[in-house]
Amino acid sequence: MELRGLLLVICSAICATVGFSEWAQHHNYEAMKDVMTRVNKKCPKITKLYELPVNNEFGVPTETWNHRKLLVLEFAKRPGEHVEGVPEFKYIANMHGNEVTGRELLLRLMSYMCDVYNGDMEPEGSFSRKHIQRLIQNTRIHLMPSMNPDGWEIAAGSVDDYQNGVTAWIVGRANAHNIDLNRNFPDLDKLYYQTQTKAVHPNNHLDKVKEVMKNLTEQLEPETKMVMSWIHSVPFVLSANLHNGDLVANYPFDETRDGSSHSRSPSPDDDTFIELAKSYSEAHKTMSNPTKMCDTNDFSKTDGTTNGAAWYSVPGGMQDYNYLSTNCFEITLELGCEKFPPASTLPQIWEDNIDALLNLMYQSHIGIKGSIVLPDNMRPGELIASIRVQKMDTGEVIDHDVTSTRYGDYFRLLSNGVYNINATIMIEGSDGSVHRVVRSACVEVENFPYMESAFNAPERIVDFDFTDLSQEYDLKGCTDEAEVEEQDVEELRYPIDDYSSLIKILQENANKNQRRYGYY
Ligand SMILES: *[C@@H]1O[C@H](CO)[C@@H](O)[C@H](O)[C@H]1NC(C)=O
Ligand SMILES: *[C@@H]1O[C@H](CO)[C@@H](O)[C@H](O)[C@H]1NC(C)=O
Ligand SMILES: [Zn+2]
Repeated sequence: MELRGLLLVICSAICATVGFSEWAQHHNYEAMKDVMTRVNKKCPKITKLYELPVNNEFGVPTETWNHRKLLVLEFAKRPGEHVEGVPEFKYIANMHGNEVTGRELLLRLMSYMCDVYNGDMEPEGSFSRKHIQRLIQNTRIHLMPSMNPDGWEIAAGSVDDYQNGVTAWIVGRANAHNIDLNRNFPDLDKLYYQTQTKAVHPNNHLDKVKEVMKNLTEQLEPETKMVMSWIHSVPFVLSANLHNGDLVANYPFDETRDGSSHSRSPSPDDDTFIELAKSYSEAHKTMSNPTKMCDTNDFSKTDGTTNGAAWYSVPGGMQDYNYLSTNCFEITLELGCEKFPPASTLPQIWEDNIDALLNLMYQSHIGIKGSIVLPDNMRPGELIASIRVQKMDTGEVIDHDVTSTRYGDYFRLLSNGVYNINATIMIEGSDGSVHRVVRSACVEVENFPYMESAFNAPERIVDFDFTDLSQEYDLKGCTDEAEVEEQDVEELRYPIDDYSSLIKILQENANKNQRRYGYY
């Protein structure tokens, strides 16, 4: 072998080893920041590194109790801005400071996405370079490796060498103020269960976030406030929250309806959430069919997924807050039996998760999306539409409207089926009376199965034309009779005006929820 070839062989062996050891290590706060900075420098065109909060509209803290930042690396074709029609996705890891594999996975994922995108590295797993480039060009992806950097340091600091793992089950779970962040969000489930029994009830955006933050300021932790302001600033459509302690994809609701410690409590979007959870568990190497159970729960019967409340009730969790307070659908991923495993096992964990991590991001493209087209003299977002869907084969109205964004677009994740879609805006006349303007569409959603969704299915783009606001409704829905019954206008207006009672419910439960123990 000639010398140059030999040197290449040696180099590739050493370089591979260096690459390997980087990902067979746990990263402390400084090392985490280094990876994020390095990836940002290497891929400046498609990434942006930023810290929370993204604006001070909400007057929230800018750091944790121990003065650390919540850092995010974003991937997009045009990082730093929302582009009309481009869905926004987020991964949040390490909310429980001692549950750490999500943090390591996201660090490796960002490095991997940058290198594969650039052609500096061959793809691993099932997705090709073209797939990954296309994902980044069509999706805005936000990666937060640690929501609780203080808790991580507490867990890691409890042993001589954290690279060998930490076996204590609870040390470092909470933040530096000893508060469990996944019990610290406003308990909107409780509010939802109370109001839902009434004929006229809100089914989305249950809290006015600014007022709630002001009134719950004592109860909400800095990390919680920063994340709340984030999810109300960026129009996320899909998200996952990465934990450890079991191996399962968990979906809403997390809190039981009846207050018991566990009973299945489906959300109105149960079908879609089950699809989303399976899109992770079935693309994961073992989650849907593990060789052993972590605990006493056999999730293989449900393909590695579970309704959160069926497993155990979590009041004040982040997952349900996303769904009940914003347009974002969030699931919770338990990524393994061990919470803080030895660093030597991280490469295997990466192999188990790489397909699933990418596959879930593609699901931001399921269902339908489009724009609200307004008259020429109006800016995008000047009128916000509620998007209500009815599944035609069952006749069931999904009791969870999403709203259009301030950019004038909307995203409605849906599982397969034929749907009637109504976009409704409310207009106030000069005499103060309110009337509604409705545009309808009939759409067949046909998502392709896992791994294929973003590539084979033509995207279902449905725009709603409101340029002629004097026309009250159109006849483009699924039923051609389209007899327009008189609907109570009140039903479509924001029904929670009594803010003090709402805040009282949230305050009472904020204190109660912290006293409950959680395990995963
Ligand atoms: C959708 O709007 C039409 C009028 O265009 C109305 O007849 C129908 O009841 C609405 N459906 C839902 C689910 O609101
Ligand atoms: C909410 O905060 C405002 C302003 O700080 C205060 O006036 C109001 O009484 C609070 N409401 C409740 C129910 O605590
Ligand atoms: Zn957890």
